[in-house]
Amino acid sequence: MQPKLKSKVRCTDREVGEVTKVIVDPLSHEVSHIVVGGNGAGTLERQVPMAQVETVLEDAVQLRASSTDLERFPLLKRDEFVTIKEVEIAHLEDHLHVEPGEVLVPLPELERNVKRRTFFANFTQAIGVLVALPLAVPVLRYLMKPMYAPLDNRWLKIGNAGKIKTEDVGVQFKYKKKVKEAFMLEAEVDKNVWVLKASPAVLEEVYKGKDMDFHDATGRLLWTNKQNVPYVVYSGKCPHLGCGYKWRGHKVLGKVFLCPCHLSIYNAGGKVLDGPAPRSLDPLPIRVAANGDIEIIDMEFKAGTKAQVRIV
Ligand code: FES
Repeated sequence: MQPKLKSKVRCTDREVGEVTKVIVDPLSHEVSHIVVGGNGAGTLERQVPMAQVETVLEDAVQLRASSTDLERFPLLKRDEFVTIKEVEIAHLEDHLHVEPGEVLVPLPELERNVKRRTFFANFTQAIGVLVALPLAVPVLRYLMKPMYAPLDNRWLKIGNAGKIKTEDVGVQFKYKKKVKEAFMLEAEVDKNVWVLKASPAVLEEVYKGKDMDFHDATGRLLWTNKQNVPYVVYSGKCPHLGCGYKWRGHKVLGKVFLCPCHLSIYNAGGKVLDGPAPRSLDPLPIRVAANGDIEIIDMEFKAGTKAQVRIV
């Protein structure tokens, strides 16, 4: 049984308050912690992991800890969480069977500590550069050759358009691609993109009335996506920090692309509706053969920038 909001909370020695909130793991959809608040208004709230819960009854939760031990559990930092109403993860609330109230999902660590993380990353890199400088020249000469290899502009077959049954619905296509990074041996990696059979309104949002050209590193035209061809493909990486995103139902916005990492939301036309993403989803070159086979040029773009900068 899952702990319910407002259930009484008993420690081994006495009753200490009630469940004021529950915290949910957004991936497993399970309750990971209960938040225990005291009996008086303004009493502090503490996060207690489910491992400390011995029994869950209809209207009460029995903890393994004493009331003294309870004070060692961390205080709830409310700004490190969002409610599931704000996140809109499909069916999460149904799965939990909780009464209406505060059900929280943690903001990812990455989101909370961006400044500190960036500082330490830069600091570590600076130390690394100083230490490695005397050794760097011959190694760099060896490494830079593959780094400056031309971008891979091969067409890759990713599947068949017959898989797409409904207009303006994102369908994920998974495929494998051979890559060679720096001095590593060539390896096959799993990749994915999202393809839509787009209505005229969505095509207009993607192409804004113009065909879309793609060029190689020298500026030579590689391919043009025609604005009236109803298939659109988006890179599988979120333009914010490169996470994978999903096609999900949203109670207010309807069907959207949702990135669970920092909750960027995009519509079917790739436009950012909410969240920290700095630009729309990245369309890729696509061509569809008469038999429905879909081919793309697999491109990747720098994450976190407003401008689209190709890196792969
Ligand atoms: S990676 Fe941050 S919102 Fe997608």
